[in-house]
Amino acid sequence: MRIIALYSPKGGVGKTAAAVNIAYLASQHNRATLLWDLDPQGAASFYLAGAERIKGRKLSKLLEGKSPLSEFIHEDVFPGLDFIPAHSSFRNFDIKLEHEQDANVLKQVLAPLSEDTSLVVLDCPPTLSRLTEQVLDIADHVYVPVMPTWLSLNSWNQLLEFVKNKKLGAKKLHPFFSMVDRRKNLHKELMARGPELLGNPMAVAIPYASVVERMGEEGLPLELLAPSSPAAEVYRKMWQSIRKDIGA
Ligand SMILES: Nc1ncnc2c1ncn2[C@@H]1O[C@H](COP(=O)(O)OP(=O)(O)OP(=O)(O)O)[C@@H](O)[C@H]1O
Ligand SMILES: [Mg+2]
Repeated sequence: MRIIALYSPKGGVGKTAAAVNIAYLASQHNRATLLWDLDPQGAASFYLAGAERIKGRKLSKLLEGKSPLSEFIHEDVFPGLDFIPAHSSFRNFDIKLEHEQDANVLKQVLAPLSEDTSLVVLDCPPTLSRLTEQVLDIADHVYVPVMPTWLSLNSWNQLLEFVKNKKLGAKKLHPFFSMVDRRKNLHKELMARGPELLGNPMAVAIPYASVVERMGEEGLPLELLAPSSPAAEVYRKMWQSIRKDIGA
């Protein structure tokens, strides 16, 4: 079982959109995939089938060890794609984790899945918390959307610093440009300086596209909503690149 995460400490940069699209593409390529929405705001549910259809369950029983993770999984929201929706109680994850400084609770709750699931995709909240520290620890690869703006680049540098300080393995971080509007001079300028500013960015850049926003309205991954759109093509390229990273 491989674990990947979509994460940035910056909000609204395209983590959830990428998590849903990549998880869907992985499931289409015969990987038994589990997407876990770790953000209490629950945006991934909207992208998948609308919040009405997929309701999360309170986490307390999971955290107390009374219910296994499998009881929280909605199987086959699309063929081959399982989903754990968020719940507002996910806020408490951090409180629980503060009490268990040494143990990686996330690793413990995911461990029983390893036989049935080949890829876990974690959609993370935009916080640098104990939870995200555990995500950064257990994930094999972490994909980090960076908008071509100075603020977003600043968040990237913060994350890099954090990962280095905590010795979590900076090599597992894969930054990629997200929500790129090539009509904007700043976007063009910063994209051209990608290797200098991000070290080794992925060779894909997600364009700013209204069709991505529509994913939330329609409750569909881009591959189903608009497979011939340029953005869908870029997500497919991104999946191919991730596939190599995870050895699939
Ligand atoms: N490539 C894109 N083009 C245009 N809009 C986008 C794109 N990607 C995401 N969006 C829109 O921007 C908003 C934020 O996207 P998304 O939820 O994926 O970001 P996020 O990083 O997960 O945010 P948060 O930090 O709140 O979890 C959403 O309204 C989404 O529809
Ligand atoms: Mg999100």
